Amino acid sequence: MNVALQRPLSAVDLNFNPPTIPLGQLRDCAREFWGLEGELTPLDGERDQNQRLTTADGASYVLKVSAGGENEGAVDFQVAALRHLERYAPDLPVPRIIASTRGNDREWIAAADGKRHMVRVLSWLPGTPLSQSKPLGTNALRNAAAFQAKLARGLRGFFHPHARHFVAWDIQRALLLEPGIQAWVADDAKALCADFNARFQREVLPRLPALRAQVVHSDGHADNLLRAESGSDEIVGVIDFGDMVHAPLVQDLAVILASFARHGEMSLENAVAQVEAWNAVLPLADEELEVLHDLTLLRIATSLCMYDFRIHATEKPPAWLTEERPDIVRSLTKFLALDRAEVHERYRAACGRVSRAPANIEIAALRERRSRALGPSYRLFYDRPVHLVRGEGTWLFDADGRRYLDCYNNVASVGHCHPHVVAALSRQAATLNTHTRYLHDNVVRYAERLTATMPEPLRVCYFVCTGTEAVDLAIRIARVVSKNEGVIVSDDSYHGNSNVVGTASTCMYPKSEQPAWLATVPPPNGYRGEYRYGTPDLGRKYAAHIDPAIAKLQERKQGAAAWVCDIIFDSNGTILSPPGYLEYTAGAIRAAGGLFIADEVQSGFYRTGDEMWAFNYSDVVPDMVCLGKPIGDGHPIGAVITTPAIAAKFAAKYSYFNTFGGNPVSAAVGMAVLDVLEREGIQQNVIAAGKVLEAGLAQLAAKYSLVADVRGKGLFWGLEIVRDHAMRAPAVEEADRIMNLLREDGFLLGRTGAFDNVIKIRPPLVFTPDNARTLLQGLERALSRA
Ligand SMILES: Cc1ncc(COP(=O)(O)O)c(C=O)c1O
Repeated sequence: MNVALQRPLSAVDLNFNPPTIPLGQLRDCAREFWGLEGELTPLDGERDQNQRLTTADGASYVLKVSAGGENEGAVDFQVAALRHLERYAPDLPVPRIIASTRGNDREWIAAADGKRHMVRVLSWLPGTPLSQSKPLGTNALRNAAAFQAKLARGLRGFFHPHARHFVAWDIQRALLLEPGIQAWVADDAKALCADFNARFQREVLPRLPALRAQVVHSDGHADNLLRAESGSDEIVGVIDFGDMVHAPLVQDLAVILASFARHGEMSLENAVAQVEAWNAVLPLADEELEVLHDLTLLRIATSLCMYDFRIHATEKPPAWLTEERPDIVRSLTKFLALDRAEVHERYRAACGRVSRAPANIEIAALRERRSRALGPSYRLFYDRPVHLVRGEGTWLFDADGRRYLDCYNNVASVGHCHPHVVAALSRQAATLNTHTRYLHDNVVRYAERLTATMPEPLRVCYFVCTGTEAVDLAIRIARVVSKNEGVIVSDDSYHGNSNVVGTASTCMYPKSEQPAWLATVPPPNGYRGEYRYGTPDLGRKYAAHIDPAIAKLQERKQGAAAWVCDIIFDSNGTILSPPGYLEYTAGAIRAAGGLFIADEVQSGFYRTGDEMWAFNYSDVVPDMVCLGKPIGDGHPIGAVITTPAIAAKFAAKYSYFNTFGGNPVSAAVGMAVLDVLEREGIQQNVIAAGKVLEAGLAQLAAKYSLVADVRGKGLFWGLEIVRDHAMRAPAVEEADRIMNLLREDGFLLGRTGAFDNVIKIRPPLVFTPDNARTLLQGLERALSRA
């Protein structure tokens, strides 16, 4: 049942046959009651019989004869509205009521059948209906919308007892939903509207009574709006106040959008232009914008019903009904095919609203520009990429103001936009930024502070700008010092993107293309590798794989220059080096004349809680330590820390310069990060939050069979997602779904591992135990739905 109809429809409601009073009688009437004598020319009318009356002196009027039995209130309503406009919006070009010589705004005449009809005379508005110029340009369409907005503004405050009368076109009536009407509606129209109608009834109609309402013209279409006869785009008048009704204000705009769509003028661009033009005169509220597109669709659908009714339920339907019907079907099809969210966002943007709900349209546009400007190599996370605009601590905010718990970004180590770091950066940036060829206190102090966090003899610091540069430089130094070329990394390793380091990043390209100077070892994966958890001396057993790798490099005449180890094996699915592993591998590479390079880009800066550097869990002091990512809380800093002896050997042949590495601003930022680490109990926080995660993740693994292995420490965890435990079959799709479900739920996580089936938790170090509990709840929700 149509919730908006207070009573069932009757045939009278839909009677559109205007009266046919003979012209002679109308001429007599004009002379007798108005003292007007002249030529009558018929004009269109849906319910009224309309004539243009032109007097001998060239003046024109409109003579309107209402249908017999027409409710007098309906006519009084129109008269009162025009009088209101004359008084309160005198500049608006609308017809004026011409009083009869007796001072009446209407007179009565009797037709031959005895029925009495009301007759009115209105002033004639010069101008040409917009419908006579096709196609209409955007400018004319904008003017039409702005004009109607002015008319709606003029009618504000006006009321009349008849204002809530039944108007078949009234969108609030949702005529198409009326079972009586459905009988006349053709099957194609029903099929077209079926889904939309159901949703409209469920979601839109119930919201209409809460919208701002007033008397609206409700008929702003191309036949009623007049443009200047000069042909300019100026709107010089509007006629036909017969559909006026008390309704949600936004309905008036929906009528305009629907009308012009119906006339084939409308693209989404033109609709947006009309919304913008209306809003400039009469600003729209959010809740009005929310229903605007649906109201427009319903208004087009209502037209279709009315056409079908008139074609099928009236005696002699005019030919134009059947001729115009396909246009309506076309425009309805076109508008139904538009993406509702996109339309809504475009309307909002046209009204100056900052984009809200995942502004699909803006994201799509930005994505498109991005792939054009950055090329196809770049990837985005998530099925629905996140458009971030702000960060604070462990929180990230998107363009719509939605916040996400950052469970992934280790780069913002001490929290996004930490005020102490931001202040240090701004202060130094406002003072001086140069490079290391000039003396500056910052870079020296920073190198001293950074190396002081490491054991002797790691006391020399080379500054670079990224982790890649750090590993690249470390390999270069190792080659110079060892006089060997060969490099050993783990299978599926990642160390960066330069020519050498990209090649040492074996997860990034096919194994068959690895060069002769590269050899790999399997990561010490106790869950799915050669030696499983519980194997005695597991670390040593995995470590022994370095021997054949060294032998291979020596056979190839490359020699062994370096063993580069990401101590937490991030790209292998987060695997902490097992006990004994680093001791053996470091010993083996040194025995072969090479150097041990600890890549602490992921594992450093208290990531694992108990130690600032992950190599500290072993007895090994690396020959070189590579730093990056968390070192600058988002600012691009990298470093290689090594021993004076190694630095001396390198310097004997090569000097070193890096334009940006170690600049005063970066050094100030790096020191500010160290300040925060020292002052703000970061390590204790990592340990505490890590314990919450450890316990909670174990519980989830016990409850959800998808989680086959949980490994990690502190604030670095991997959840291996598998389809079945016996086969250890990676559940890649499920892992992807979990990540996307979490994103929708407001949590940002990542995926890693050779199969991309390991959910990675690696938040900023300021991620608190409470944040951890919140994440566990989110994970539980996602796992239960994956
Ligand atoms: C272990 C490891 N080393 C080095 C790098 C390279 O760092 P960047 O991207 O700053 O060049 C990365 C980056 O992900 C990494 O994970």
